Amino acid sequence: MAITFAFLSASGGVGKTTLALHVAYKFLLEGKDVLLIDVDPSAGLSTALLGEAKVEELGTKRRTLGDALEEFLKGERVEPGKYVERVAISNEKCGDRSLDLIPSGDALSDAMGLAWFSGSRPSPENLLKDFLEKSGVSGRYEVVILDTIPFYERRYTLTALQAADKAIAVTHPYGVEPARSRRMFLKLKEIYGDALDIKIRVLINKVDVRTKEGREAFKTIEEALAGLPKFQTTISNLISYTRIKKMEFCKDKKARKEIDELYEELMQWLGASIHLDSMPIDRSLLG
Ligand SMILES: Nc1ncnc2c1ncn2[C@@H]1O[C@H](COP(=O)(O)OP(=O)(O)OP(=O)(O)O)[C@@H](O)[C@H]1O
Ligand SMILES: [Mg+2]
Repeated sequence: MAITFAFLSASGGVGKTTLALHVAYKFLLEGKDVLLIDVDPSAGLSTALLGEAKVEELGTKRRTLGDALEEFLKGERVEPGKYVERVAISNEKCGDRSLDLIPSGDALSDAMGLAWFSGSRPSPENLLKDFLEKSGVSGRYEVVILDTIPFYERRYTLTALQAADKAIAVTHPYGVEPARSRRMFLKLKEIYGDALDIKIRVLINKVDVRTKEGREAFKTIEEALAGLPKFQTTISNLISYTRIKKMEFCKDKKARKEIDELYEELMQWLGASIHLDSMPIDRSLLG
């Protein structure tokens, strides 16, 4: 069974998709089999990786995550291969790798509606978890990464949290985001209790703590999110989104160091040393 990470957030545009892809690429560089799942019906990640035309085509052919979930909800046998796209990521500095993607599209809204308002009560939030386990998707990979949408669409966050071993709550210190993040945590704590602290950590994005401005911004978020579990690693504004598929961060020493540090922290969090396969992971410890 794969280790599953979910990227979630209170506000939009904080960097979930960007970081989900960078972490996925880092796992690829470490030699892991990685599956990315776009759990966003607006298909941002799918579009970044496959382009608009392909995403539209897959939607028409009913080969997106939502279509797979609808099949699963109907009790049909889902053939995972039908929904997985192989994506080549090339980078001259770090190397060329391929990752698998389950793309998204409008059908995801339909599937979520179906699960939450009719079919699979009493546990619609287990839809993705059950699908990944029972369709055999999880068994085919070492790492599965979920990219979701903000918490104001609560169903998506809860669905991803249920399916994940570990969740990374991305935030930044600007505008109302710190307060929103804090409110999201309070709400999630009501739902999950203390188990939440084992499962989720805050990742501060778009802050360069090497600068005075960045350190002040960091203080803002430290105060707003005092007492919540956080990554020590912070990610500064160095990741070029327009070249996301080319992983240009490889050329930037600082950006690369941040992703490497984040990876190390993720591994420590999992209780493994450096590589997933260097120590068997006791899944019962994952919370
Ligand atoms: N560390 C970073 N360095 C530079 N730009 C970043 C960084 N993180 C995010 N961005 C930029 O911020 C914008 C939003 O990022 P992204 O789409 O990843 O956010 P998101 O949380 O997935 O948004 P949504 O909730 O809409 O899905 C993008 O333009 C992206 O390039
Ligand atoms: Mg996104």
